[in-house]
Amino acid sequence: MIGEAAAALHGSGLAQFARGSAWFYPAMASIHVLGAAFLIGAIALLDLRLIGFAKGIAVAALQPLAVRVALVAAAVCVASGMPLFAAGAISLIANPIFLLKLVALALAAANAVLHHRGAGAPALHGAVSLGCWATVAVAGKLAVFV
Ligand code: HEM
Repeated sequence: MIGEAAAALHGSGLAQFARGSAWFYPAMASIHVLGAAFLIGAIALLDLRLIGFAKGIAVAALQPLAVRVALVAAAVCVASGMPLFAAGAISLIANPIFLLKLVALALAAANAVLHHRGAGAPALHGAVSLGCWATVAVAGKLAVFV
């Protein structure tokens, strides 16, 4: 089922355009890495505060801005990531490093939801979040080498 969906995505007009255009894929990859930089940069600052650094900065002062930047950046990552994924869907869906990235993305999202619902220790959320986003970034980079 997933294989068929990946094959359909791989054969789509978007995927063919992304593979055939000299500028589109590099442009999407550039936007993607910019989105990733803003997302992980904003979240890392909040996570370090939650872990206990910079106690002079109130979490309530930092969190709204960090979350807003992260949400916009995540939308940019998803929107730019889809054509990148479509272009190589058949191989990426069978790529364990790329699948690790998607699992880490899901864990990071679940952890953020639990944190915003006030479940559990903020420091633990900060540490889990840092670990997940570091995995997303490194797996995102290494996936193309596998
Ligand atoms: C939402 C958070 C996301 C973050 C923080 C993120 C982060 C990254 C990073 C850091 C890279 C390596 C970029 C480089 O150095 O070239 C990357 C590559 C990639 N990402 Fe994401 N990503 C995210 C979501 C997605 C999604 C949802 C998809 C598609 C389903 C996706 C598909 C890809 C692909 C295909 C590559 C390889 C691009 C290439 O170099 O050819 N990403 N991602």
